Amino acid sequence: MCGIIGYLGYREAYHILINGLKKLEYRGYDSSGISIINKNGYSLFKTKGKVNELEKKIYSFKNKLTGTVGIGHTRWATHGEPNDINAHPHVSNSNNLVMIHNGIIENYHAIKIILLKNGYTFNSKTDTEVLVNLIEYIKYENNLSLEEAVRVSLNEIIGAYSIAILEKSNPETIIIAKLGSPLIIGIGKKEFFIASDPIPFINYTKNVIYMKDGEMAILKKNKELDLRKIINNHKLNPIIKRLKINLKEIEKGEYKYFMLKEICEQPKTILDTLRGRLLISKKIICINGIESNKEKFINANSIIIVACGTSWHAGLIGEYLLEKYTRIPVEVEYSSEFRYRNPIIGKKDIVIVISQSGETADTLSALKLAKKKGAFVFGICNVVGSSIARNVNAGVYIHAGPEIGVASTKAFTSQITILTLIALKIGKYKSIISDLSYKEICKELSLIPEKINYVIKYNSSIKKISNLLYYTNNFIYLGRGINFPVALEGALKLKEISYIHAEGFPAAEMKHGPMALIDKNIPVIVISPLKGSYKKMLSNIQEIKARRGKIIALINKDDVQVRMLADHVINIPDTIEELSPLITVIPLQLLAYQIAFLRGKNIDQPRNLAKSVTVE
Ligand code: M6R
Repeated sequence: MCGIIGYLGYREAYHILINGLKKLEYRGYDSSGISIINKNGYSLFKTKGKVNELEKKIYSFKNKLTGTVGIGHTRWATHGEPNDINAHPHVSNSNNLVMIHNGIIENYHAIKIILLKNGYTFNSKTDTEVLVNLIEYIKYENNLSLEEAVRVSLNEIIGAYSIAILEKSNPETIIIAKLGSPLIIGIGKKEFFIASDPIPFINYTKNVIYMKDGEMAILKKNKELDLRKIINNHKLNPIIKRLKINLKEIEKGEYKYFMLKEICEQPKTILDTLRGRLLISKKIICINGIESNKEKFINANSIIIVACGTSWHAGLIGEYLLEKYTRIPVEVEYSSEFRYRNPIIGKKDIVIVISQSGETADTLSALKLAKKKGAFVFGICNVVGSSIARNVNAGVYIHAGPEIGVASTKAFTSQITILTLIALKIGKYKSIISDLSYKEICKELSLIPEKINYVIKYNSSIKKISNLLYYTNNFIYLGRGINFPVALEGALKLKEISYIHAEGFPAAEMKHGPMALIDKNIPVIVISPLKGSYKKMLSNIQEIKARRGKIIALINKDDVQVRMLADHVINIPDTIEELSPLITVIPLQLLAYQIAFLRGKNIDQPRNLAKSVTVE
């Protein structure tokens, strides 16, 4: 994780770096720092806490922070607790090199021992301080330029990194390199920006280079970018892409938190996901990545979905949809488990990787493993140009727009939307789904945004329930069938932003153990639309009620029976069973938001978490 930023050009670097770091805080926010260099040397400030703590610290020294070249970092701690000393940038023993790093150097301990033997000392507990000193050691021992020393050093290390280095004696240069962690270069007129994602510099330039693994670049004032391969120093031709991001998408506007904005955006983001793909008048679904690989999907032996967190929950919903409409066996795996268990997959299997950020380290590794084993890998990503998007055999973007709140919301509903389209498309190819159901589902899918809008607009019961329950310490979420993953997702949302313990279960599993938890104090959120296993759910609710559990039920307007049993109800519009998760998840997102809000939490930046998990 961690966010890195850098600037080299003709503008004062300070505001670019600080404002950029604020936009990167979703990647980590336990400490931050910046360094700005000019011909008189460099200044460096770092501190525990968020970027506004850094700003406060710098405030009285601001005049000293002049210069048009600099780097900055916001941290999510891996090696060493979050404190001032472990914050980046880190400086080499001679004070000549200053470095920021996102990633993990796995063999840092062995390198540290060698450096200690050679008289090096260390202030922090970080792997980054080891790397910057390794570069210095190799530079001086072999009388190399910084550029050469960086290359030699990086060929010695094992791990993942995106780094940026300044050299005191060479104040008009930044050297950067990437392996495993994202790094993007923004190309302006006589200026370069670097960052972990393009959002920090989007209002200066939309021309970007997505660095690839194993590349380094030398950025010099008034010079062309020099891009090289780390392994052999071969010069590379940079490929410049033009970004299409609307600035409004990355601002909070009238909302207090990005999470609320992103929840409320869902009627629009689902339409964006459907745009050009669900051609309702022609009753056609178009997904290029599926169409151009039609035979592979039709003849697949199995589909394995790999993902983490909320994307994994979307995968579980995908399993129901794909098995129902395509009759291809589907398994859903956590990326972190899949990658370490030597899975049995081959040429006739399809691995679908789902990732909002497209940078999740475990999912990226799972993808690489699946490819190595010969499977066809299909990606479902939100962030355009992300590492996962670039590494898959084929894929589709969900087009949900930038998701900034750490708790994923709009990406989830767009992922489900895409999975529905994929399942329908393959089902149609295989003639498993009838024309009638196909048309009916397509029609209903086009109505979903309006139904979500209704839930968002008329949510007064959610506010009322939140007011009654926000002090509670444990919650249970129950669903059945396609709404079981929604129960998991509802519990995850509550946990991550309000720090309340919550668990999701398939409702029928309660009597196999969890029922022991039920008493009059524990709220049980039941997802109980009239379709599907409604009757079974009704019995499960009665079982809980008999043990004095407090029932909060998501129900349709015409439901009389659950309404009578429940302590509180949240009304949801009716839809067909297969599409119901798109609706049932919305009140659960709002409930988590309201409760976290009442508990006074920093909703967009929950403790200990980061938006993009680029470490294992
Ligand atoms: O970017 P990804 O979809 O790969 O991220 C996966 C998880 O880290 C992510 O969904 C996480 O669980 C969210 N914080 C959940 O809200």
